[in-house]
Amino acid sequence: MTSYKDLGLVNTKEMFAKAIEGGYAIPAYNFNNMEQLQAIIQACVETKSPVIMQVSKGARDYANINLLRNMAKGASEYAKELGYEIPIALHLDHGDSFETCKDCIENGFSSVMIDGSHLPYEENVALTKKVVDFAHAHGVTVEGELGVLAGIEDDVVAEFSTYTQPEEVVDFVSKTGVDSLAISIGTSHGANKFTPDQCTRNAEGVLIPPPLRFDILKEIEKELPGFPIVLHGSSSVPQEYVKMINEFGGHLKDSVGIPEEELRTAAQSAVCKINIDSDGRLAMTAYIRKTLQEKPEEFDPRKYLGPARAALKEMYMHKNKNVLGSAGKA
Ligand code: G3H
Ligand code: 13P
Ligand code: ZN
Repeated sequence: MTSYKDLGLVNTKEMFAKAIEGGYAIPAYNFNNMEQLQAIIQACVETKSPVIMQVSKGARDYANINLLRNMAKGASEYAKELGYEIPIALHLDHGDSFETCKDCIENGFSSVMIDGSHLPYEENVALTKKVVDFAHAHGVTVEGELGVLAGIEDDVVAEFSTYTQPEEVVDFVSKTGVDSLAISIGTSHGANKFTPDQCTRNAEGVLIPPPLRFDILKEIEKELPGFPIVLHGSSSVPQEYVKMINEFGGHLKDSVGIPEEELRTAAQSAVCKINIDSDGRLAMTAYIRKTLQEKPEEFDPRKYLGPARAALKEMYMHKNKNVLGSAGKA
């Protein structure tokens, strides 16, 4: 058993309390490899932002739990070496079972999500409570979810979203004891968050998505004053990266994300954790494609992963400063 405290990490309790109080959101950036983790840490130290390093079940399978645990320890030491100490949490994204959550807690994760959102309500309550009881005994914080996001999470594909029902949230939080709640108000996972027929087109032909359901968020806030809310599926799908990918041999169609102004509005509310994965994938892919096409003689991975890492860092710094508002809050 390794406690997150031995890895130099913190749970999300204090981070979230400060974020709600201060009207900003903590970035939760997914990572699967060293370059992504380096970019996250460099960007968050440079902008003096607290951060949640997020690992999906797919990332666990890809990278190996022992490596991940040691990478997290390395990340907290690396942050200190860069010269400014920031609060860092290691979080399981979309935990699918009690066993996965337990295994992560025993391997140094400071926070876990148990995603029972696809289950019947009472089963979601029972599973979430079981995880909370185990996690809290180890000082680990837990995120639960009510409402279903459309899109792909690991092997689970939901074609349609179901908005969170505000009348359920108090019962869910009090019965389970969760520390934060992920909600569904119109975001979804991946780079194609809306179909073209759900959107309008502006003069340049860019797809403009329907607005998020801030009315539902307000209802939830009224039911749970001061309680930490989490927004998944919050990539903005920057069109510059989509264009670059397509220009350098890729084929992405109808990619549309959540406008940054809407994320900024959400960050100023009870939303205190914003999950971003797809934007990082887009930035990396855009720069890897560009380098490989422009320098076909290169075959040293550092030569194409290096520029991708630099672009990722820039993007995370922009999010912290201009979208989430977490810069300067560490
Ligand atoms: O919520 C989903 C995240 O983007 C993780 O995606 O399961 O492909 O690692 P993944
Ligand atoms: P995106 O696909 O919008 O980046 O969402 C990521 C996410 O919610 C991870 O849990
Ligand atoms: Zn998610």
